[in-house]
Amino acid sequence: MKKVSVVYFSPTGNSKKYGFAVAEAMQEPFESFDFNKREMREKEFCFSHEDVVLLCAPVYAGRLPDIGLFENIKGENTPAVCIVTYGNRDYDDALLELKNVCEKRGFHAIGAAAFIAEHTFSEFVGADRPNEEDEMKIEELAKYIKRCLKEDKWREKALAVKGSYPYTCMPKKMPFAPQPNARCCRCGSCVRKCPVGAIDGKTILTDKEKCIACFACVKGCTRKGRSVDQPQYYALCEKLEKNLRDVQREAELFFL
Ligand SMILES: Cc1cc2nc3c(=O)[nH]c(=O)nc-3n(C[C@H](O)[C@H](O)[C@H](O)COP(=O)(O)O)c2cc1C
Repeated sequence: MKKVSVVYFSPTGNSKKYGFAVAEAMQEPFESFDFNKREMREKEFCFSHEDVVLLCAPVYAGRLPDIGLFENIKGENTPAVCIVTYGNRDYDDALLELKNVCEKRGFHAIGAAAFIAEHTFSEFVGADRPNEEDEMKIEELAKYIKRCLKEDKWREKALAVKGSYPYTCMPKKMPFAPQPNARCCRCGSCVRKCPVGAIDGKTILTDKEKCIACFACVKGCTRKGRSVDQPQYYALCEKLEKNLRDVQREAELFFL
């Protein structure tokens, strides 16, 4: 079996959770690469034909987070599995974008998945995911990867996933950003957790231009010391909950 690596960008942990679950279901030891850390996205990582890489990322406005994700990794026709997680609305072109990035970087996509997880902006949307059916899909994907890699046929086949190019054109930038509230004790843990360096170490204020609204600071604060208090945010939460609270989307898998 090839060496399994989980490479993830996952500010609130859902994509990491699914990536690890797939790797664990493969019942092989695996290494992980945390691309929430800026220094990890600045180094170059090379994977060989002896590796299999699970690339995991969240969906932001139907696309990959707009931070040049995974542009610092290189493969040598390395088999890869593309995994996106989304908050029960849709993943639009994010999975296709991830597959395209991965192929451009020298990987051969052998499988892909779009899994549902709790929506960053509402605990009521995508709540209780992964559920039992998701666990079954995780198992199915893990078994498929092992089966696929046993033979060499994957080298001759190209993976097709849902999505279209040119990619969906939704506003990539959210019109809000978390800021400290009265519970903030200025411990600075949010500064360290922010994957894009948007929080000033002295003032603890968020630079709205740099912020990608990933909520790593909001969910990572044990004192609940960061929040968004803007009408645009409340309106989005209301819309998401009205339209998606009672919807159960199914995880989708793509095989060669
Ligand atoms: C800025 C932003 C945009 C998002 N856009 C979408 C979207 O278009 N569709 C969707 O279903 N979920 C969307 N979500 C929800 C996340 O994709 C989902 O919660 C994901 O699992 C978060 O992954 P993470 O925990 O690995 O960070 C968005 C979340 C954020 C922060």
